[in-house]
Amino acid sequence: MTRVLSGIQPTGDIHLGNYLGALRQWALDQHEHDSFYCAVDLHAITVQQNPEELRAKTLETMATLVAVGLDPEVCTLFVQSHVPYHTELSWLLECTVSFGELRRMTQFKDKSMKQGDSGQEHVSAGLFTYPALMAADILIYDADRVPVGDDQRQHLELTRDVAERFNSRYGETFVLPSAAIPKIAARVMDLQEPTNKMSKSAESALGAVGIFEDVESIAKKFKRAVTDSSNEVRFDFESKPGVSNLLSILGAATDRDPELLAEDYAQYGALKADTADAVISVLEPVQLRRSELLADPAELDRIIARGAEKAGEVAAVTVSRAKEAMGFLSPS
Ligand code: AMP
Ligand code: TRP
Repeated sequence: MTRVLSGIQPTGDIHLGNYLGALRQWALDQHEHDSFYCAVDLHAITVQQNPEELRAKTLETMATLVAVGLDPEVCTLFVQSHVPYHTELSWLLECTVSFGELRRMTQFKDKSMKQGDSGQEHVSAGLFTYPALMAADILIYDADRVPVGDDQRQHLELTRDVAERFNSRYGETFVLPSAAIPKIAARVMDLQEPTNKMSKSAESALGAVGIFEDVESIAKKFKRAVTDSSNEVRFDFESKPGVSNLLSILGAATDRDPELLAEDYAQYGALKADTADAVISVLEPVQLRRSELLADPAELDRIIARGAEKAGEVAAVTVSRAKEAMGFLSPS
């Protein structure tokens, strides 16, 4: 059976890009594959976090994963730091990946530059070695398939390279994983600056749509979405990023081809209104489930504890295999 693993950082507010690019795929995958999903709190600390906020966000993220339809009876849902084998394998992989490979990662270049721009000189070493930890997250579960948005493509390629190098140095140890990137909405763009991806740290509050936002606010954001002055509805990200972003969001929310959808619209106003309606109908059931769940914190604690146990059992086996292959003396 195909093994699936993916993770999301418990920082900021989970947005429509996370949902359409990743989480929706996770929910579908759980019924077809043996799936593991986690809140990657160890990744979150690559930039400084407020401790109380990190704790609260981690819990909230776990509630969100259940709310988007991940069923703890069907898949394994856990908090990354509850399975300490991730950090152990990460070190073995840090010694397998090269400095040059890490230096080429665009996410590192972007994030370290952003830190500098915001006046923060401090760029942690963890931000640099982050892809080794991500490779550990994936390889530790022998995952074949990793459902992610387009921005993680490069990290997945690196994970494969690292696994291949390890296997050729020390013998077959790891499964080579592939990225599963959705055909539509793999890169949802900011509604105000459609040449930037929608992100948790959006410049403008109007640019990102949180998955738990109230429906009036979602409708308002789509109404104000930046388009262009030509008033021609056409799917072409190069010359019409704003309109194309709306078309791909609408396409993803209604399971239709954005290029064909473009033919149905003569005006931006109608496209914006329909996109808002489609997004709201996709998000409403998610919002309802989350309020039910937050009303029962003990249930969420049970889910998290059970997930750590299930994930830990699998991870322990892989780490021993990797240590054995690398030549560590086993404790007698
Ligand atoms: P992060 O919020 O960076 O932890 O991302 C969690 C998941 O959401 C990853 O699989 C990302 O690739 C995906 N993702 C993040 N932003 C976007 C976006 N704007 N469009 C599509 N997918 C995204
Ligand atoms: N790097 C991913 C992101 O920023 C999060 C992540 C960490 C992840 N470990 C992973 C995604 C393992 C998939 C598989 O979105």
